[in-house]
Amino acid sequence: MRMVDLIAKKRDGKELTTDEIRFFIEGYTAGDIPDYQVSALAMAIYFQDMTDRERADLTMAMVNSGDTIDLSAIEGIKVDKHSTGGVGDTTTLVLAPLVAALDIPVAKMSGRGLGHTGGTIDKLESIAGFHVEIDKDEFVHLVNTHKIAVIGQSGNLTPADKKLYALRDVTATVNSIPLIASSIMSKKIAAGSDAIVLDVKTGAGAFMKTVDDAKELAHAMVRIGNNVGRKTMAVISDMSQPLGAAIGNALEVREAIDTLRGQGPKDLEELCLALGSQMVYLAGKAGSLEEAEEKLREVMRNGQALEKFKAFIANQGGDASVVDHPERLPEARFKIELPAREDGVVAELVADEIGTAAMLLGAGRATKESEIDLAVGLVLNKKIGDPVREGESLITIHANREDIDDVKEKLYASIRISDQAEPPVLVHGIV
Ligand code: URA
Ligand code: CA
Repeated sequence: MRMVDLIAKKRDGKELTTDEIRFFIEGYTAGDIPDYQVSALAMAIYFQDMTDRERADLTMAMVNSGDTIDLSAIEGIKVDKHSTGGVGDTTTLVLAPLVAALDIPVAKMSGRGLGHTGGTIDKLESIAGFHVEIDKDEFVHLVNTHKIAVIGQSGNLTPADKKLYALRDVTATVNSIPLIASSIMSKKIAAGSDAIVLDVKTGAGAFMKTVDDAKELAHAMVRIGNNVGRKTMAVISDMSQPLGAAIGNALEVREAIDTLRGQGPKDLEELCLALGSQMVYLAGKAGSLEEAEEKLREVMRNGQALEKFKAFIANQGGDASVVDHPERLPEARFKIELPAREDGVVAELVADEIGTAAMLLGAGRATKESEIDLAVGLVLNKKIGDPVREGESLITIHANREDIDDVKEKLYASIRISDQAEPPVLVHGIV
């Protein structure tokens, strides 16, 4: 088999065979096929697309390029949730205990990574003592006995995707539905869960800027999952403004606790219930999404979700008293209000710009070497559609430095106040 023939075949709009796809992924991972040939193939895929069969084959070839996680020692149907990434997305912190409270195993593998705030592990580490340095046996034991545990990512998962994603980044081929869908799904499948729920974000703070693009990506990923034997569903959700009110690590833990109590921001609660219902349904604990949602509301009402969160924290060395005493979480030295400069209605809160402001405060990592400040971040006092008077606080800035003119400037530039505006639709569809 020659790589040049594969490039020509795809260039001319023909379908690659399973063997051909395996050949180029294996050859590229091993370093036998050079970047320039894979770049040319990626560009051909960008223009010619891939069939469902090719997409499934590409996904599985990338899964098989490295280690895969075996969760078979954990009893029950393991359902994983993945978000395509947003700003102040506190859903994982809420969903893990919420779903585990219904006896569904949550075996979460998580990373740190770059972004506006830290990842799930960073957020949880704002709880004194909490740690994810547990070994595989303890992880399995915790999930089997308490239904919930989080462990740091380990192993060499999907090296083909790492290499291909980096190449796409510099060859203008990131933005291709078959390539994005197979990239995301390969990582989820390698992580070992039986079923997958996807939160595909759309809007300024998201990878997919339009609802149509987000829907197309969601359908593509759901088809790949189902075609390779992992039951998959998706929610398409708004990320034109940040989700909930809090953006920051300790601040989001606090917001998650409020939400588990049924006292969180309504948009965060709504999305957690939409995603959670799919998880409960796929885990076989409810016959319909409606029944699943009712079960989730019940464990929020009766306190079982909150109890599950406490047990989870304590099991991994953390101080569970923060649940009843959130003031024990790290707190920033300065709380500075951002006053509205005019009367009106909030019409825009550009999610990615607001996320960048949180990062400027130190809530997230700009580079791998950056240190995170777990206490800092933003709390939105107004969301799109809310009326506001001049001088009223739009955002409370939690900072550990007093001079924050750069942050204020960034925030003012990302907020628009107008005569009227409607809150955006949160859930654009379920797949
Ligand atoms: N996120 C991924 O993991 N892969 C892509 O290709 C795009 C976004
Ligand atoms: Ca939030």
